[in-house]
Amino acid sequence: MAKKKVCVIKGDDSSPEFVIPTVELLEGMGLGIEFSWPATSEEAIKKFGNPFPPEAKKAIDEADCTLFGSTRGMAGGLGYLRWGKMTYANFRPVKWVKGMRSPLKRPEGIDFVVIRENLEGLYPGREGDIERLAPLKLTDWVTGQVLDTSMKGKFAVRVITEENTRNIAKAACDLAMKRKKKGGKGKITVSSKYNVLLQSDGLFRQIVEETARKYPELTFEQQVIDNFCQQMILNPQQFDVVVMPNEHGDVMADGAGALVGGLGLAPSACFGKDYAYFEPTHGTAPDLVGKNTVNPTAMILSAKMMLEYLGFEEAAQRLEKAVYGVYGEGKYLTPDQGGSSSTTQFCKAVREKL
Ligand code: IPM
Ligand code: MG
Repeated sequence: MAKKKVCVIKGDDSSPEFVIPTVELLEGMGLGIEFSWPATSEEAIKKFGNPFPPEAKKAIDEADCTLFGSTRGMAGGLGYLRWGKMTYANFRPVKWVKGMRSPLKRPEGIDFVVIRENLEGLYPGREGDIERLAPLKLTDWVTGQVLDTSMKGKFAVRVITEENTRNIAKAACDLAMKRKKKGGKGKITVSSKYNVLLQSDGLFRQIVEETARKYPELTFEQQVIDNFCQQMILNPQQFDVVVMPNEHGDVMADGAGALVGGLGLAPSACFGKDYAYFEPTHGTAPDLVGKNTVNPTAMILSAKMMLEYLGFEEAAQRLEKAVYGVYGEGKYLTPDQGGSSSTTQFCKAVREKL
């Protein structure tokens, strides 16, 4: 196999504290991956006066994929990784294993993936003054009234396209099939506000249903997003692959991460047709800067998804098993999981199990 190239974006605040040891773990696995480390965000502002300099774009383009830490916003490359590389499908797996500090009484068997649409919906921020809507003479279906555009205020546009929804629905079904082969439930749940947003979220729901019906081995179900939110807390074991529009997925994925023990455990992968990047679901934990206590699990499990993408299937399984082994043993957990180990000690414990 030709050498794989990975661009690493260290991220802001405490992010380098979990990105660097994760890459060290990967290096220790002897897979011959070549890593590049462009400066972005604050580091790049200091060096070049630009949060996303051309060097960083070049490093992303030249790599097979990007391993991304956490950032405070879109400016340091995240915008490019999403819309520049058209990474439409954001997979956010939620799995509980023994040792993870879930707030639920019975977390056994929680194992589902939130697939968040990554490019449309309310992103990437098409907003403006309400008066700009005047020429459209928008009528709402509940009251039949034309929007009063003399009001002072702002609007945001929410877009759902057929093509992109078909792409994400297919990604969801393919993942459910893959999971079914390994003993998964073979179930697709679509969730959005389709009972109110009859057209946009209605279209999203309809396309996911049409797509799922083409896979006779999968079962299909739908849940309005507010119902999903309570179902996820009451009975998260019912889910397998859940697919939702962008901002719904953004919110629900954080809640889903909390179910198994917090965002420190929640990995993610974003796939496009010919590029992918891998990042934890959580933010930059500014309160933990310099403490060496941030939980690197979400980052390591994101790296595990990256290894699968790059074709290192066996190494990916080995890495995941080692992480779960550290939880099972419970000796080297970080403070968010009730332990007293540092980030470095946790990573050392993973390395010893590899
Ligand atoms: C996420 C984050 C981002 C988002 C922010 C940092 C722009 O919350 O990846 O979930 O809203 O997409
Ligand atoms: Mg988020």
